[in-house]
Amino acid sequence: MAEELTNEEFWDERYGGHGHGHGHGHIWSGNPNAALVEEISGLTPGTALDLGCGEGADAVWLARQGWKVTAVDVSGVAIGRAEQHAVDTGTADAIEFQRRDLSESFPEGVFDLVTSQFLHSPAEPISERILRAARDAVAPGGTLLVEGHAGPPPWAPDAHNFLPTAAEVVVTLDLDPAEWEVQRAAEHDRQQSAPDGTVVTRLDCTVKARRKA
Ligand SMILES: C[S@@+](CC[C@H](N)C(=O)[O-])C[C@H]1O[C@@H](n2cnc3c(N)ncnc32)[C@H](O)[C@@H]1O
Repeated sequence: MAEELTNEEFWDERYGGHGHGHGHGHIWSGNPNAALVEEISGLTPGTALDLGCGEGADAVWLARQGWKVTAVDVSGVAIGRAEQHAVDTGTADAIEFQRRDLSESFPEGVFDLVTSQFLHSPAEPISERILRAARDAVAPGGTLLVEGHAGPPPWAPDAHNFLPTAAEVVVTLDLDPAEWEVQRAAEHDRQQSAPDGTVVTRLDCTVKARRKA
């Protein structure tokens, strides 16, 4: 399956819309990620970049907090749904959506917040290059937040895509201590629904770092 599809095709299929921007139904909850809400709630809003924004729940939440958001995803179906979510919530003016493959190109400029929430893909290992580009897109005084699964799921223990621990993310980011303060680098449990509908506990990780002003 994954061998035959491009990353874009894989995600358009996964979102169930066959590339037309509005598929059968949402695959995520519509709620923002808990780690984003927990880590970012206290920050003064500025510009934000959401990498792999999916159906846009995080971008909408950020916009509601006062952030001016650029939200990127490889899937046109996801972007279509995210745009609709923004319209429905009155946040469309505060969010610029971009359909873009981050393995091929990265948004220009710097942002007060760069957030990557579960930017994983079974169709294509998300490269370490994307993590470093995320780091380089943080403005002085800004925050980098990387949330992800710290290993494969119990239903696919041999998944070979890049699912690093917090320590591995920190090593990959290669943060210059003169320029960066690592504020969090830790694993934590999170409940997730497995494909068969059962709820399993997974080990996720959070890396949060602040670029010195
Ligand atoms: C596991 S989902 C997470 C979505 C969202 N951040 C969330 O937490 O609900 C991974 C997302 O990354 C996107 N993605 C995967 N590879 C990508 C790439 N190379 N460039 C941009 N987006 C990508 C997928 O389309 C998908 O929406």
